[in-house]
Amino acid sequence: MIFTVAIDGPAAAGKGTISRRLADQFGFAYLDTGLLYRAVGAKVADGVEPAKAAETLRAADLTRDDLRSHIAGQAASKVAVIPEVRRALVQFQRDFARQSGGAVLDGRDIGTVICPDADLKFFITARPEVRAHRRYLELGGDEAQILNEIIERDSRDMSRADAPLRAADDAVVIDTSDLGIEAAVAEAAVHVTARLGG
Ligand code: C5P
Repeated sequence: MIFTVAIDGPAAAGKGTISRRLADQFGFAYLDTGLLYRAVGAKVADGVEPAKAAETLRAADLTRDDLRSHIAGQAASKVAVIPEVRRALVQFQRDFARQSGGAVLDGRDIGTVICPDADLKFFITARPEVRAHRRYLELGGDEAQILNEIIERDSRDMSRADAPLRAADDAVVIDTSDLGIEAAVAEAAVHVTARLGG
């Protein structure tokens, strides 16, 4: 069975948690595509040229332990505006999406560019202040500065020419600002069950 769930949205909206939980519940494979861009950003910080860093990306690059930081997120969104970087990562993501047994991919352009024919698309969002507070609880740091970084990163992701962050026309939008994670996962799962049943 090929069944693709595409999950997009801004930083810290809850995409990762919802994706992981859906993958667990329905036995789908899960790909955090942000990690690909974070790993490319880290290689570029080490001196590798961006397109080359994306073309030579290996599974081992995704296991670096410095990829979750705010700095890695900013570095990712800077390399993510480069069309050659995005192009180099397309096929890997599409192959992952079409593996047998079902797949969940989360990112910024999954429902719009990578998997426009996905069986189900979600756009997970939340107010910037709520997202900044979640990141602060997760990673620590200065909450006001985190908010500024999130706003800056969202604006770069939404305004870039190639594959900007936006909800696909046929995406189910879930705003997690005032929704506990259990409720958000449950809402998403209802849609997956319905789509699988149909
Ligand atoms: O989701 P995460 O915060 O790990 O993503 C880091 C950055 O990678 C994003 O801010 C965005 O610029 C980029 N990205 C992207 N397309 C994706 C996933 C992530 O441009 N599909």
